[in-house]
Amino acid sequence: MEVTVIGTGYVGLVAGSCLAGAGNRVTCADVDEARIRRLNSGEVPIYEPGLEALIAENLAAGRLRFTTDAAEGIRTAEVIFIAVGTPPGEDGFADLDFVRAAAGTIGEHLRPHAVVVTKSTVPVGTNEIVRAEIARRTDVPFHMCANPEFLKEGDAVADFMYPDRVVCGVDAESARERMTELYEPFRRSGNPLIFMDIPSAELTKYAANAMLAARISLMNQFAELCERTGADIERVRRGIGSDPRIGPAFLYAGAGYGGSCLPKDVQALIRSAAERDLDLTILRAVNETNDRQKTLLVRKIRRRFGEDLSGRRFALWGLAFKPRTDDMRAAPSRAIVAALRERGASIVAHDPVAMDPARDIYLGDEVEYGADEYETLDGADALVLATEWLQYRRPDWAAVGERLARRIVFDGRNLFDPEGMAELGFEYYPVGRRQIGPEVVA
Ligand SMILES: NC(=O)c1ccc[n+]([C@@H]2O[C@H](COP(=O)([O-])OP(=O)(O)OC[C@H]3O[C@@H](n4cnc5c(N)ncnc54)[C@H](O)[C@@H]3O)[C@@H](O)[C@H]2O)c1
Repeated sequence: MEVTVIGTGYVGLVAGSCLAGAGNRVTCADVDEARIRRLNSGEVPIYEPGLEALIAENLAAGRLRFTTDAAEGIRTAEVIFIAVGTPPGEDGFADLDFVRAAAGTIGEHLRPHAVVVTKSTVPVGTNEIVRAEIARRTDVPFHMCANPEFLKEGDAVADFMYPDRVVCGVDAESARERMTELYEPFRRSGNPLIFMDIPSAELTKYAANAMLAARISLMNQFAELCERTGADIERVRRGIGSDPRIGPAFLYAGAGYGGSCLPKDVQALIRSAAERDLDLTILRAVNETNDRQKTLLVRKIRRRFGEDLSGRRFALWGLAFKPRTDDMRAAPSRAIVAALRERGASIVAHDPVAMDPARDIYLGDEVEYGADEYETLDGADALVLATEWLQYRRPDWAAVGERLARRIVFDGRNLFDPEGMAELGFEYYPVGRRQIGPEVVA
């Protein structure tokens, strides 16, 4: 099938290369010239395991191409995906400017009977906006499909290749048939392709992310209660996660959720409900809890070291919002860095893949970087762990203890065992578990 994908970010690039991998002829278009130049020279602008090889393979096979001229692909495409960003706009609304612009380009070049698919996360009603933008520019018949993406950064290629489910909101039987054909190669294990009306598909994506965010914020509130009662959130997690009605995934207390989806989608859902005179009180609490959670480690640091942190130096392990990605959008590390710097502290950071994106965010000497995680420790007052990268999970504690100026660890991901840390002679401040230190941090 001839497919065009507009937007070559985390979603468009993965969708485009996986669709090419299934034998389709795919054009990936982006307005960012530098990005397309890099892609055409074989460089992948984001870190996503498995993606580089997939792109190289499909470029070599001639099934995949990158261009800044979307029209080239749109003219012949049977299916056109819109995979541009929908960042938070004013008041938390999803900013639809990129989606509208993509729709305008599509409208100018569309071939008859194409299916236009919104893969970007968009509020209910957006597909009708896209339809109207296109229809203003062309008389050719076309169909719309809302096909939200559920991939997880870090596992995106596998998530696309072997999806739990594919959700498609369609407006016609012919669109349903086209999407069935396109997704068939990815459904050999029988996972469902769920068809529904367009508004339900649009809302499904937000509802899924809201549910995930709610689980995390609820666990974070339980963690706070654990700290005040002497209970241990890790034991509570295991105790409830084995109930099949609850399940073990997404039940980790920590330094808060981040990334390009959960925070903005919760906000956007609150806003779009408010527009319809509905106050999503639970989601407002989820959001507020998360904002507070992102600075939890800094509150613990202030209790331990005092309000004035000038002259203090902290080693920060992890900049990305989660492991296996270089994405720092809304990462808890950013709230930690901002709050520590505001109080005069200096930060030496390490991340296996996110140090380059970090250099674009922290210009000049705002943050120093270690060549490896151990180098960050030299002379630091404490280690602050913000992302649970695999390589941070079993550190050489003797080396950590020797290099740190003080044997103190603030663990935003509950990677270590409090008793073990006590035996090793560390002060240890996890989330919702026993604190090992001179102060009871509540
Ligand atoms: N990142 C994720 O994990 C994820 C998961 C599921 C859904 N989503 C949703 O998918 C959408 C895309 O997210 P992303 O993380 O890939 O975004 P991104 O910011 O990484 O990429 C968006 C790309 O679109 C390009 N673009 C913008 N306007 C354009 C236009 N008119 N024509 C061509 N290209 C254009 C930008 O230059 C950019 O390269 C968002 O709505 C997001 O909420 C993201």
